[in-house]
Amino acid sequence: MTNDEFVAIGIDTNDAWIRDRTGIRERHVAGPDETLTSLAATASRIAMTDAGVAASEIDAIVMATVSPDHLLPAAAVEVQAALGATRAAAFDVGAACTGWIYGVVVAEGLVATGTAETVLVIGGELLTRIVNWKDRNTCVLFGDGVGATIVKRSQKGRGVLSSYIRSDGTLAKLLWRPSGGGANPVSEATLADGSFWVQMQGREVFKHAVRSMADACDRALDGAKLSADSIDLVIPHQANTRIIEATAKHAGISMNKVYVNVDRYGNTSAASIPIALDEARRAGRITDGSTVMFVGFGAGFTWGSLVVRF
Ligand code: ACO
Repeated sequence: MTNDEFVAIGIDTNDAWIRDRTGIRERHVAGPDETLTSLAATASRIAMTDAGVAASEIDAIVMATVSPDHLLPAAAVEVQAALGATRAAAFDVGAACTGWIYGVVVAEGLVATGTAETVLVIGGELLTRIVNWKDRNTCVLFGDGVGATIVKRSQKGRGVLSSYIRSDGTLAKLLWRPSGGGANPVSEATLADGSFWVQMQGREVFKHAVRSMADACDRALDGAKLSADSIDLVIPHQANTRIIEATAKHAGISMNKVYVNVDRYGNTSAASIPIALDEARRAGRITDGSTVMFVGFGAGFTWGSLVVRF
């Protein structure tokens, strides 16, 4: 869906505003017959084929999402059933846009403790189903998508070199869904006031995002005992090109070492980093031995980073 298509459906916006403020040109919207589970199963099968892993070998499925098909049970068990991963534990991680980074940290722990050998980590969202399509402050920013990855034990010197995850729940109301949960259940009043849709204070989120992305970059490099020069590629959460550029500047990494695709997908929250990872691998920007820094922030607030050697 292009920016112009919002104008066509009566939203008071324009292509120039959206591109100038966010860098987004278009985003993808799931079709009426598609669900988070169907997209996640498709992405997972591609990742499993790529990694040479059968459904029967998966010990755990960690699904990062804030837009599940159902509020109960976990989105991960729906994917477990779709894949026929009969041996797998399955659960969700709700860390919004930092969800895939949190998921990889959990997977690393499962492998390190010997609880699992093979973990499927998925980041996926159907955000177009939880935004108010009449609210120009949010609807133009988000898109649908899923990325899937397989985490296994690696040789020494490869894999996750450092990880960092943080949160600040005092900022929760900057980006949240005020109703629909236990504190304010679905009722005629919440349906009427639309408080179950995503609500965001964009300018405040922007400020905290720039700050937390900078912190996450510093901690990732410190943790891995690497300088910015040693990073071959940065894959940041894709929310906004201005936030990405500020992050690269802070880290002292030139933009030609930063993967950007927000122009084509919008903000797909937990899916944005694994989608970018897949594209970067296929484009040959990650090869054997590449050192990649992942950095993200999201609702919560949550933020975090990983340095991974492939
Ligand atoms: N089209 C045209 N005008 C708009 C639109 C739109 N789609 N949306 C807002 N405006 C208007 C506002 O109403 C405001 O008008 P006013 O001055 O008459 O009140 C004006 O544009 C400026 O609004 P600001 O909010 O000040 O614009 P800003 O430069 O901050 O850009 C934006 C807004 C793009 C939302 C920016 O603040 C941003 O990117 N914030 C971060 C958002 C983000 O990354 N969210 C995801 C977090 S991660 C996660 O967990 C999902």
